[in-house]
Amino acid sequence: MRDGCGRTIDYLRLSVTDLCNYRCRYCMPAEGVAKRCHGDILSVEECVEIGAAAVRCGVRKIRLTGGEPLVRRGLLDICRGLRALPGLEELCLTTNGSLLAQMAAPLRKAGTDRLNVSLDTLRPDRFAAMTRRGRLEDTLAGIRAAEDAGFKNLKLDTVLIGGFNDDETGDFLNLTVEHPWEVRFIELMPMGPCAEWERSCFLPGEYILKKHPALRRIESKGVARRYRLPGAKGTVGLISPLSHDFCGQCRRVRVTADGKLKGCLHSRKEIPLRGLHGAELETEIRSGVLQKPLRHYLTDRPSDTPRTMNQIGG
Ligand code: GTP
Ligand code: 5AD
Ligand code: SF4
Repeated sequence: MRDGCGRTIDYLRLSVTDLCNYRCRYCMPAEGVAKRCHGDILSVEECVEIGAAAVRCGVRKIRLTGGEPLVRRGLLDICRGLRALPGLEELCLTTNGSLLAQMAAPLRKAGTDRLNVSLDTLRPDRFAAMTRRGRLEDTLAGIRAAEDAGFKNLKLDTVLIGGFNDDETGDFLNLTVEHPWEVRFIELMPMGPCAEWERSCFLPGEYILKKHPALRRIESKGVARRYRLPGAKGTVGLISPLSHDFCGQCRRVRVTADGKLKGCLHSRKEIPLRGLHGAELETEIRSGVLQKPLRHYLTDRPSDTPRTMNQIGG
């Protein structure tokens, strides 16, 4: 599928729930989000139907997101349904890892190809403070379970936050020496609660390169610039939506858990897909893709989306 700017769109991020068992301070308000009625959220069948229509339109990779996708009932049925689609090359999932110890093996069996795990700190006290309710050891156990279940090319997503985890970058880099993982530092994007945070919290990806000059550039894949420490088994990625915006190479489109197609993470425009089937559904997906904005304007103003990240899925 081509969008209105000539970009190829072949990657769907499908949010399966806006609920999360954590309340990360930059992402969600302490009280969480109002629980929606069961019927407001896409059913298992609707998720698979939308995924199928997207694949018919040219999508080749689907990533399941949340909120936290592992709290979604019926998640494994969604995975099985999507995996069975002819033409889908990769089924991925992004998780906070808290429930992965139990879920990694079933996810693998249900056909999930690859996992990205969010992990912002390696210190138990900070982990509890940032997530307001999580335990570091659960996520670490989840990562071990993912490896045991046979998941390869594991990525760890670390949102870099000045005054919170900027003193831990060396510890994260050390993980890549021993493990074949990609640790990716993500620039904090001003949306939801963190839109009001002080400027000093927003560090550019360049911070990592200045602090760790031993990092050597390697080929990029997707939106991350990639590096390696000499001799390391794993790699380091920099996702820099603010300082090096990658909108020109964006291949993504999103569907929220309530069934709205979003061309861009940061735009207000949403196209409702619920209730549509077959050719009608495909037409709306193509029309949404055609309206995908050229870029975000985060360097000039906060995100235009009225949603918090858990209501989009990253
Ligand atoms: P791969 O398939 O492994 O390349 O994963 P991915 O980077 O597409 O997915 P992941 O869920 O791991 O996303 C990494 C982070 O990038 C997210 O946590 C978001 O913070 C950020 N992100 C994802 N999509 C976008 C986007 O379209 N625009 C911007 N600005 N940031 C994004
Ligand atoms: N900026 C950057 N990344 C964010 N995430 C959530 N909110 C933000 C933000 N404001 C990340 C989470 C997780 C992924 C789904 O999105 O940490 O890794
Ligand atoms: Fe949940 Fe992810 Fe938001 Fe944290 S960042 S509250 S884990 S959706």
